[in-house]
Amino acid sequence: MTFDRSIKIAPSILSADFADFGREIQAIEAQGADWVHVDVMDGHFVPNLTFGPPAVAAFRKHVKTVMDVHLMISPVDSYIDAYAQAGADVLTAHVEAGPHIHRTMQAIRAAGMKSGVAVNPGTPIEAIEHILDITDLVCIMTVNPGFGGQKYIDMTAKVRKLRAMIGDRPVHIEIDGGMDPKTAPLMAAAGADVFVAGSAVFKGGSVSTPEVYGANIAAIRAAATAAL
Ligand code: DX5
Ligand code: ZN
Repeated sequence: MTFDRSIKIAPSILSADFADFGREIQAIEAQGADWVHVDVMDGHFVPNLTFGPPAVAAFRKHVKTVMDVHLMISPVDSYIDAYAQAGADVLTAHVEAGPHIHRTMQAIRAAGMKSGVAVNPGTPIEAIEHILDITDLVCIMTVNPGFGGQKYIDMTAKVRKLRAMIGDRPVHIEIDGGMDPKTAPLMAAAGADVFVAGSAVFKGGSVSTPEVYGANIAAIRAAATAAL
């Protein structure tokens, strides 16, 4: 994985057919996805439950791009090695998930992955200011995590502040929640480069009509790019 700030679309397979993950991943990649976003939920840190390391390892066999694993779990540290084994390229933990985010980021890098930190809408961006030198990606949540298809919460000011804080460090700014062709441009203009989208990518399509995924991905990319 080489670093650049070009616009990247990362469909969230939370909105895919849960009985057909392999073909869904192949379809979104064939239709232009840059990364594949995998939402891990534990029913404790967030009020919803998805999948764990064995499922993520099975996804890996189909992912040819970048597997971007978003942990909405607490605690995190005891699972880091399992997600490294499962083949995560980027492993993102929430700053709200425990008292030792600095240690968590060190451990993610030590396990050979890119380190990501996610920040809930109610958390000030200053919470991650002192870990930027050991961080590869900051995920700004524009919904409260737990479910796909929620309404976008504006975090433009937070993203602008983060972009200034990062300076010339090679740190991605990822936006997660309610991203579509209307909202993604606001975040692109503020400095984001990775756009997670679940419902806006999968809506109206299926593995038998994958061109709908392609059109949805292209629409988000075009809108975000036009804002630069
Ligand atoms: C929310 C997840 C998101 C979610 C986004 O808890 O982290 O990745 O799938 O879904 P949409 O794009 O539908 O808001
Ligand atoms: Zn996510």
